[in-house]
Amino acid sequence: MFDVVVIGSGPAGYVAAIKAAQLGLKTLCIEESIDNKGKASFGGTCLNVGCIPSKALLDSSHRYYEANNSLNKHGIKIDNLELDLNSMMKRKDEIVNKLTSGINGLFLVNKVESISGRGKVVSANIVEVTKVDGSTQQIEAKNIIIATGSKPIEIPSAVFGAHIVDSTGALSFSKVPKTLGVVGAGIIGLELGSVWSRLGSKVTVIEALDDFLPMADKDISNESFKEFKKQGLDIQLSSKVTNSTEQKNSVSVTYTHEGKEINKKFEKLIVAVGRSPNSSGVLSEELNISLNNGFIEVNEYCQTTVPNIWAIGDVVRGPMLAHKGSEEGIMVVERIAEKHTQVNYDLVPSVIYSHPEIAWVGQNEEELKSKSIDYKVGKFPFAASGRALAVDQSVGFVKVLSDKKTDTILGVHVFGPAAAEIVQQALISMEFGASSEDIALTMFSHPTVSEAFHEAALASNNQAIHIGNKSK
Ligand code: FAD
Ligand code: NAI
Repeated sequence: MFDVVVIGSGPAGYVAAIKAAQLGLKTLCIEESIDNKGKASFGGTCLNVGCIPSKALLDSSHRYYEANNSLNKHGIKIDNLELDLNSMMKRKDEIVNKLTSGINGLFLVNKVESISGRGKVVSANIVEVTKVDGSTQQIEAKNIIIATGSKPIEIPSAVFGAHIVDSTGALSFSKVPKTLGVVGAGIIGLELGSVWSRLGSKVTVIEALDDFLPMADKDISNESFKEFKKQGLDIQLSSKVTNSTEQKNSVSVTYTHEGKEINKKFEKLIVAVGRSPNSSGVLSEELNISLNNGFIEVNEYCQTTVPNIWAIGDVVRGPMLAHKGSEEGIMVVERIAEKHTQVNYDLVPSVIYSHPEIAWVGQNEEELKSKSIDYKVGKFPFAASGRALAVDQSVGFVKVLSDKKTDTILGVHVFGPAAAEIVQQALISMEFGASSEDIALTMFSHPTVSEAFHEAALASNNQAIHIGNKSK
């Protein structure tokens, strides 16, 4: 009998399994995905076909773009610049292999047992594993954690095929498509659209909604929209794909835009319209655990209605983010070990790894207005930051929103260099209940782009040094 059986080894599942073993619980992790040697392949979407390979390609493509477009400004001239896509892909694959095999090592040192196969919870204490050869094994568990993740959504007007691909396909094109269509101007559309645009594709992004990045602060979505357009992403809002047909070497896509029907041909089409939870066939019906739109229903501690069955990560409500799943894994295991750990769902950071980056934490202006919270705004442009100018990254700004009466920071929104790292600093201060004055009274190294956060906090109280303040 295991103390904890985890189904799925993505960032939610593998972190939960390691933590459980570290707490002295006898732990097993079940993973259905296998590598080319037939062994369980750990790491889930994030390590294999998500966060890590996409960031590897974002970095490589950015270097290529800079070499092509901006290094000459620095007095660096390169003749006969060439793209070797094979090597770029090889580098990405090596990083993925290093990290996924690293989980094997972590399981070994932490004494997490693992088994290859598809897990299904058949009763409150039994998980059935179906192995590749079709045989089954029943495993007894005191606690079960479901961490089966999510998969790309397919739409009837663009069915996946040889040229119509999901995010996984878009991470391994064998040549740069001359023309690339992307359905969905969400996080994947923007990140992977940017990768291929930098490598030379002419990219059209087809987005159903009228608003760009509606989940971001309006200032950020407006500014970043202009910047993405400048970088060559042709983002068509209010556009609905009605049909896509694969031809020998291309895809013909029909979509409606402002009442007109438009037809375009692309070498490849990426469909990135969101992801759906992997919950089908994971729970026996007799358990009576409800699904909501496919998401396994859990309380704030990720516990289902069967007290010893828990679910974490993309398969439950909340943002589909690796760090959110990992923190849920830690919380659940600590609660199994009778600690009182919680996840602060109010402070889950969001990052889009575009160039410049987009990142935020806490509430945006629209959310504060809708709750009738009185707030003040402190904003500082990177154009006034010495370091941002020195590193040629002066687009964007830091925006700090604080409570008008108490000065407590309610949200920090950044579009610009190192946005993710600046937002992380903000998040730490917010976990400690910081006010914008606390940040204003903190010393920041000079010259750093983080100084823009300092100045934005100062600006909240009309005290910025390097820009004009609002007249009182
Ligand atoms: P997953 O990572 O999906 O892992 C689930 C695992 O469970 C898989 O290995 C699967 O094979 C296994 N499994 C499923 N069903 C069973 C079963 N019945 N039995 C056994 N095993 C099973 N998030 C970020 O925070 N930052 C990023 O930069 C980022 N970039 C991304 C880029 C892309 C292109 C994509 C697609 C996603 C990205 N994400 C990012 C999202 C992130 O990958 C997910 O939020 C995260 O992987 C979810 O973790 P998880 O453990 O819940 O599920
Ligand atoms: P998404 O939810 O971010 O964006 C999907 C977009 O597609 C939305 O703008 C939506 O309006 C649009 N859309 C939906 N149906 C459409 C249709 N039929 N036609 C045209 N547009 C349509 O989903 P995405 O980009 O697929 O990413 C999935 C998830 O993966 C993200 O929500 C995020 O949680 C995670 N992710 C996180 C990353 C990060 O943290 N940097 C990077 C990549 C993915």
